Amino acid sequence: MKASAKAHSNIAFIKYWGRKDEKLRLPTNGSLSMNLSNLHTITTVEFSDQYKVDQVIIDGEYHPKETERAIVHIDRIRNLTGKHTRVRVESRNNFPSGTGLSSSSSGFAALTLAMVEAAGLKLTEKELSMLARQGSGSACRSIPSGFVEWKDASTSEESYAYSIFPSKYWDIVDIVAVVSNEKKDVPTSVGQTYAETSPFFQVRSQKMAEKLLLMKQIIADKDFKRFGELIEAEALEMHAVMLTSAPSLIYWSEGTLKLMKLVKKWRSEGLAVYFTINTGQDIHLICQKKDALILKTQLEKIREVKKIITNSPAEGAQSVLDHLF
Ligand code: PMV
Repeated sequence: MKASAKAHSNIAFIKYWGRKDEKLRLPTNGSLSMNLSNLHTITTVEFSDQYKVDQVIIDGEYHPKETERAIVHIDRIRNLTGKHTRVRVESRNNFPSGTGLSSSSSGFAALTLAMVEAAGLKLTEKELSMLARQGSGSACRSIPSGFVEWKDASTSEESYAYSIFPSKYWDIVDIVAVVSNEKKDVPTSVGQTYAETSPFFQVRSQKMAEKLLLMKQIIADKDFKRFGELIEAEALEMHAVMLTSAPSLIYWSEGTLKLMKLVKKWRSEGLAVYFTINTGQDIHLICQKKDALILKTQLEKIREVKKIITNSPAEGAQSVLDHLF
């Protein structure tokens, strides 16, 4: 009763910030993302009577808060089996967690698939996505492949993600600039609960369905300029809600701001690059494949950039045969 799974983190181009149902993690609006090839989590789950309690090890360590959250999800899936057998879970990220690279999306997607397989359950992609959503909202988008939409819905059964275009559809590149290894001080799941306190939240919410449709059309057209303009405006709009919520959330650091300004400068010099940012200081720079090398060369010159991670669109969550223990 042991199984392992690999899932990639995803970057949202139309973002999810705020929920209409806290308990079920139903977002206020639909969102759209792309899986990231070089940011992944591998998770192994083993059910065994020899375990007296559930054990969760992340990146070689025991983290009490993360374990507590993971066990709620483990129970959710275990309840589907009708049994009480305890589990050991080991999980490894190939990137820093808590700095804005969405380790919870890859983490909960990999945990969901590994748990389901180790339990011998047979679920569809839609059911896996619904389950992953309840662990961490954006994790539902790491189950399907490539470019993914998480539907706007008002019931749990309808709130899942599905692939709108395969990973090979468009060869855009997401270059992550890691500007610090410091962990964010307000976790995303807590920050989400403040969203509605922003005076801009309602204004934003009213336009999201229209924006999502527009983004889908732009991706269908592969219109990189309009795509870049829309992802950047969308990231800034989400951060405007964060900045004006109570309490306010400032996820950027000096390095983030420096890169935001540099992106605009490089663009004015002819390099087609746009940014997007989640909750954390690390920044995603989006360009076309033909410009990736030149952008990387530019980034290597910036003192604040500690690490560069280059991603292409990736597959969804998959079972793997190599176990972590
Ligand atoms: O799924 P959560 O609770 O980690 O929230 C994700 C929030 C953002 O990354 C900022 C936006 C998004 O849609 O991924």
